[in-house]
Amino acid sequence: MQADFRGRYGPWALVAGASEGLGAEFSRQLAGRGLNVGLVARRAPLLEALADELRASAGVEARAITADLADPAAPGRIVDRMLDVEVGLLVCNAAFAPAGAFLERPLEDHLRTVDVNARAPLALSRLLLPDMVSRGRGGVVVMSSLSALQGAPFLAAYGATKAFQLSLSEALWFELRGSGVDVVDVCAGAVRTPGLEEAAPGGAPGALDPHAVVRAALDGLGRGPEIVPGALNRVAAFALRRMLPRQTAVALMGAQARRLRP
Ligand SMILES: NC(=O)c1ccc[n+]([C@@H]2O[C@H](COP(=O)([O-])OP(=O)(O)OC[C@H]3O[C@@H](n4cnc5c(N)ncnc54)[C@H](OP(=O)(O)O)[C@@H]3O)[C@@H](O)[C@H]2O)c1
Repeated sequence: MQADFRGRYGPWALVAGASEGLGAEFSRQLAGRGLNVGLVARRAPLLEALADELRASAGVEARAITADLADPAAPGRIVDRMLDVEVGLLVCNAAFAPAGAFLERPLEDHLRTVDVNARAPLALSRLLLPDMVSRGRGGVVVMSSLSALQGAPFLAAYGATKAFQLSLSEALWFELRGSGVDVVDVCAGAVRTPGLEEAAPGGAPGALDPHAVVRAALDGLGRGPEIVPGALNRVAAFALRRMLPRQTAVALMGAQARRLRP
């Protein structure tokens, strides 16, 4: 099975937002499945330590690529660092999630949210997909969120970028069907990561373990445009999308996000 995965999505993966949380877990599981990994984030020491760990524990190659994905030039520079190898899998995982009322956050925060969460995944996908399509194999995993399913008060820009990610992934999934390249959007509920701990000290009810979420995401490649990890989250997603009036869904999301630390 490991050989199948590597043959389908290897030999290199590029993980955006790899220094901690879900991105570090993606990197560990991909290395465990035999892929070499390009690790992208801003904190170089964390990336270097993770790269050393992956080389030692999984015997794969790993590259630490320090970059701020809010910089519009970053995706091009990152892809340039991988030009000598075949990137068969892109994981768009990095995110900026400024909590608080829209008018209480500066414009710069909202624009940064759009650059990191929407512009960068779009650019990385557009830059890496042509080679995957011409090879007839590859994949893209996009870490989105249940906040994509309706407006997310007190996380307004973040929720809007997650909806952008969901829409983009679904469209690419359709356009690339039959090309050998799989695209999957991961609509995650709460996951126990440093990012969640910072926003919601003490955690969130029903938060999942990163290991289970990443395994579901990787196993979801090739099985449809979207997955929702966790049975309770699937019930929540069904209710938010199909059962509740839109206003109620927005209000429920707002009640959750209002508690997050700005
Ligand atoms: N945790 C949850 O409850 C949850 C729920 C739903 C969806 N998600 C989604 O899952 C993904 C990962 O979440 P997480 O909780 O693991 O996040 P996290 O713990 O905050 O980690 C975010 C990662 O992205 C990197 N990053 C952030 N801004 C960046 C930038 N400007 N340039 C480059 N790298 C950047 C961070 O590294 P540096 O700081 O070193 O740059 C870090 O490696 C996100 O897309 C998030 O929206 C998470």
